[in-house]
Amino acid sequence: MNKIALLGALTLGATLSLSATASEHGHAAAKVEPWTLQHWDETAAAMPKGDAMRGSELHKNSMCMTCHGENGVAPSRNAPSLAGNTPEFIYKTLLDYRSGLRNEGDGKSSVMIAATQPMSNQHMADLAAFYAQQVIPAPAAMASVDPQIDRLVRKGDASRMITPCASCHGAHGEGNEVTPALAGQTAHYFVRTMHAYKNGHRNNDINEGMSQFTHDLTDAEIDALAQYYASLNRKP
Ligand code: HEC
Ligand code: HEC
Repeated sequence: MNKIALLGALTLGATLSLSATASEHGHAAAKVEPWTLQHWDETAAAMPKGDAMRGSELHKNSMCMTCHGENGVAPSRNAPSLAGNTPEFIYKTLLDYRSGLRNEGDGKSSVMIAATQPMSNQHMADLAAFYAQQVIPAPAAMASVDPQIDRLVRKGDASRMITPCASCHGAHGEGNEVTPALAGQTAHYFVRTMHAYKNGHRNNDINEGMSQFTHDLTDAEIDALAQYYASLNRKP
């Protein structure tokens, strides 16, 4: 665990008047049951109403800002942007870090696992409400999109059982409920997390949907998809 991460965990602990011990929550955490659709539906129905003002305070006081940027727009290529993502996705993924279900087995997951330990469901809903309201500045659009990538996004590839990305993530990569927004996402993070799905290190998704769709994608396709989505405007 690096210094900033530890500091983040400790500051959050202090903010929430709880003690967070980062080291207890490594890859060896107890096995957590994977999501079923029914369990997710029940969890979404019970999601507390988020307060964006309180979320903003938490974001600033708990060091989330240092890695995810002042308004949830990632200042470095390693961290995902959170601005403009759906509250349901942010909420679910924070729950998954807290339970240890989302654990790619690297230092980056450990940071998030530590940071979520002191959080209540209400804190997570407040943060989700705050990020959903933020905006990623429109990136420069791509001059032209590779027709093969365009086809993967809009038509998928039946021969590899790949469902079109756009059918779930939206025609503009804007996301929908528990399906995350991809438009404007940091390309480096996008590639890393696609490989984590592909090699089974990220398996917190409901019914392992994303591991099925990444299974037969080539590295070149993953890179091209990352560039494509990074060039889309999250709020068209
Ligand atoms: C030390 C840097 C650091 C700090 C501090 C930090 N994060 Fe993260 N966060 C990351 C990184 C890196 C990832 C991506 C991890 C991965 O690759 O799986 C991430 C992932 C996330 C994700 C998942 C995003 C997605 O698109 O899947 C959410 C949500 C998130 N962080 C919220 C927070 C919140 C809320 C806080 C404050 C309580 C916080 N983070 C503090 C570095 C940090
Ligand atoms: C059947 C619906 C579906 C299809 C088709 C689909 N996805 Fe996903 N995708 C999801 C869901 C749901 C998640 C969130 C999973 C989780 O909870 O980790 C996700 C997560 C992701 C993430 C992680 C985002 C983040 O912020 O952590 C990326 C990247 C991604 N998908 C890219 C793609 C690409 C590229 C394609 C097309 C090749 C695709 N997806 C096809 C439903 C889908």
